[in-house]
Amino acid sequence: METSKQHIEPAAGRLGVLTVGLGAVASTVIAGVELIRRGLAEPVGSLTQMGTIRLGKRTEDRVPLIRDFVPLAGIDQLVFGAWDPIADTAYEAAVKCGVLDRFVHIEPIAAKLKEVEPMPAVFDQNYVRRLEGLNVKSKGGKRELAEALRQDIRDFKAAHSCDRMVVIWCASTEIFLEPGPAHQDLAAFEAAIDANDPSIPPSMLYAYAALKERVPFINGAPNLTADVPAMVELAHEAGVPIAGKDFKSGQTLMKTVLAPMLKARMLGLRGWYSTNILGNRDGEVLDDPDSFRTKEQTKLGVLDYILQPDLYPKLYSDVYHKVRINYYPPLGDSKEGWDNIDIFGWLGYPMQIKVDFLCRDSILAAPLALDLVLFTDLAQRAGLTGVQEWLSFYFKSPQHAPSVYPEHDLFIQQTKLKNTLRWLMGEEQITHLGIEYYQD
Ligand SMILES: NC(=O)c1ccc[n+]([C@@H]2O[C@H](COP(=O)([O-])OP(=O)(O)OC[C@H]3O[C@@H](n4cnc5c(N)ncnc54)[C@H](O)[C@@H]3O)[C@@H](O)[C@H]2O)c1
Repeated sequence: METSKQHIEPAAGRLGVLTVGLGAVASTVIAGVELIRRGLAEPVGSLTQMGTIRLGKRTEDRVPLIRDFVPLAGIDQLVFGAWDPIADTAYEAAVKCGVLDRFVHIEPIAAKLKEVEPMPAVFDQNYVRRLEGLNVKSKGGKRELAEALRQDIRDFKAAHSCDRMVVIWCASTEIFLEPGPAHQDLAAFEAAIDANDPSIPPSMLYAYAALKERVPFINGAPNLTADVPAMVELAHEAGVPIAGKDFKSGQTLMKTVLAPMLKARMLGLRGWYSTNILGNRDGEVLDDPDSFRTKEQTKLGVLDYILQPDLYPKLYSDVYHKVRINYYPPLGDSKEGWDNIDIFGWLGYPMQIKVDFLCRDSILAAPLALDLVLFTDLAQRAGLTGVQEWLSFYFKSPQHAPSVYPEHDLFIQQTKLKNTLRWLMGEEQITHLGIEYYQD
């Protein structure tokens, strides 16, 4: 399907990026962008920086870099700020969380990292129990706190002469919350803010503040946050894109590649046991059963949607799926994601797959955060509002329209993302039919 090119405002000027949370992921993104900008490292893992896109037929040999094809902000145009209840600058956060080599990747850019000082956070220990922070906004109820966040966004934009802004949640995982009456529409949500209703956690105040300021909001953690009808309504009303939730960086990335392979080959599944050990602050927060429950939901959801047991009851109706996360301090930001997968083949004969992914959490998440910032800003300039399902590629639990189920298969997500870029630029969609190569 060829379409006419969509109108997209140019990516001129400075793009302010406010991270909620200045911990391992955020400091690794900020440091990485500075190192890449100075030519001291490569943006490995980033589709916007390294990826290409095929246009037209295979015989046409048109394969530009994505960043040359769509008008993305360049990394030179990014200016970072943050909120965190812990007062560490990006420099101190990077040193403490131990993701990057201090002498190779932190000290050479120390001055730049020290410039990023976190603004006082909207923080409430009832929603993240394993943390204590002093750098917090303490005055007023939820309405005043939301207004203070809006003021922070305006002040940052003015102080750094930004043309546009994006807010991305890179903060700790909040306790599990079910969508309730306060989340169903904007009027109920506004009333709940005014009533200091406990069903409005800090993350929702950040999302609300961003959207009210017409700033796109991205959620890198599994909290409900913007994944409720009230926030979607506000995003449409304000004309702003939202994207979430929970970066798909390690074990779930593996799962959403392996499970489609099993289904493509009609191989059966009896059980999938996934366990993680990690030693960073994220691991410590997730050690609290209520925060873990939030994460468990986004990690567990993927198999059912991919395997469609209702369509293939003989293969997938009786799958035992378990996910565990254990805090194990010696590992630091390194993580071991271990999967034991019991499958069966021809005539029901059992087989096993074992995956042991020795990964680095923030090294995997940082390029996703960068891509999401750049693509969400593109969406804003292209007039795309509300849920950006084409960014499902980046999330464990992608937000989606109520009328459809979420797409979890990584390669369907990638096709959707690239076809959206082709559609935006008025290029033909690629169907992979290719029959024309075999006809006279
Ligand atoms: N691969 C990955 O690293 C990965 C993948 C998916 C999701 N995530 C999620 O990303 C988030 C960040 O991970 P991390 O490793 O950087 O964790 P981290 O603990 O190093 O950093 C989180 C920061 O958020 C701050 N924070 C907590 N509540 C806040 C609030 N209300 N306002 C502002 N700041 C607040 C904390 O003080 C901390 O500095 C976590 O929720 C994690 O589950 C990470």
